[in-house]
Amino acid sequence: MADLILGIETSCDETSAALLALDGGRPVLRSLVILSQDVHRVFGGVVPELASRAHVRTIDPVVSRVFAEAGSRPEDLTAIAVTAGPGLIGALLVGVMYAKGLAFSLGKPLIGIHHHEGHLFAPWLEDPTLEAPFIALLVSGGHTMLLDVPAWGEYHLLGQTLDDAAGEAFDKVGTLLGLDYPAGAALERLAGTGNPARFRFPRPLLKDGLAFSFSGLKTAVLRAVRASTDLDRDRADLARGFQDAAIEVLVEKTARATESLGRRRAVLVGGVACNRTLATRLRDRLGSHAEVVVASPRLNTDNAAMIAAAGAWRLARGERSGPELEPFDWQPMPGLVLPADLHLAKTSS
Ligand code: KG4
Ligand code: ZN
Repeated sequence: MADLILGIETSCDETSAALLALDGGRPVLRSLVILSQDVHRVFGGVVPELASRAHVRTIDPVVSRVFAEAGSRPEDLTAIAVTAGPGLIGALLVGVMYAKGLAFSLGKPLIGIHHHEGHLFAPWLEDPTLEAPFIALLVSGGHTMLLDVPAWGEYHLLGQTLDDAAGEAFDKVGTLLGLDYPAGAALERLAGTGNPARFRFPRPLLKDGLAFSFSGLKTAVLRAVRASTDLDRDRADLARGFQDAAIEVLVEKTARATESLGRRRAVLVGGVACNRTLATRLRDRLGSHAEVVVASPRLNTDNAAMIAAAGAWRLARGERSGPELEPFDWQPMPGLVLPADLHLAKTSS
């Protein structure tokens, strides 16, 4: 019988569970439930205490639902994989304690997964032939990292953001333009109707190394918003100007890393990888030099299928977590190799 792994993800504001079967090592996603908490919308950002309470209410119904959708029972499980961090501690605690309780009551193995590594495994769910080496751009609400992945489990950090994460910049600029949080998808739609020639914003660090910076770009948009005499008229053009600048930087650095390391594949992961303009421009820029791999939006934003996928890989190597598994707000990804000259700044989920 195929192995069956339950994935659980509660690091931020999504309560998610997934059942992943492994058929001769090939991933078959049997069910995936993602419940997004919209209680945070009115606050313009995630309120940690509210997130934890919402997870407490929803974790059991969400897990029951993935079993019902897949027609499976907890007894059928081979193992359980749960996000251990990074993320909001109170939110992570709910998933970790739930997973521990279930694993130990069923007598099944448990594995704690690093959220970033989960994101990296998302495209493998749809393309089981996806193999290292590749360059990965991990762009999300809390992280922006450019990685060289010579093998699964080995992650060489090439650059990361010095200030805001890419998704955070989309969200903050979206708020300036009057969009609801999280604003990335709405901002992309708005930018699609904007005039690219009206606002030209700075491209921070464009030619300078592989690190990113988005706070100056965000401030430049803020100034333009304040200077606007008719925001209704300018809104889409501002969105377009911002998106073009942010994407040019992401594309340029990813392409440069791919070319300079001679990789033939670039993988986009994390919530911002849902942005179609990002993938299209990276494909145009890399041409025949390298293929660009992106998972479906549902697998790029936070979800438990990617946690089950990373869990499957680690479990197959014989790794297990014991009862001492604890959530962490921040820790480097296992297998992360830092460049000698880089001080690793703290980033959240
Ligand atoms: O990976 P994710 O679900 O959560 C974190 O781990 O942070 O990413 C969420 C982020 C949000 O900042 C959201 O605005 C952004 O991904 N996002 C997008 C798009 N869809 C989601 N950013 C740009 N364009 C999009 N289409
Ligand atoms: Zn994430």
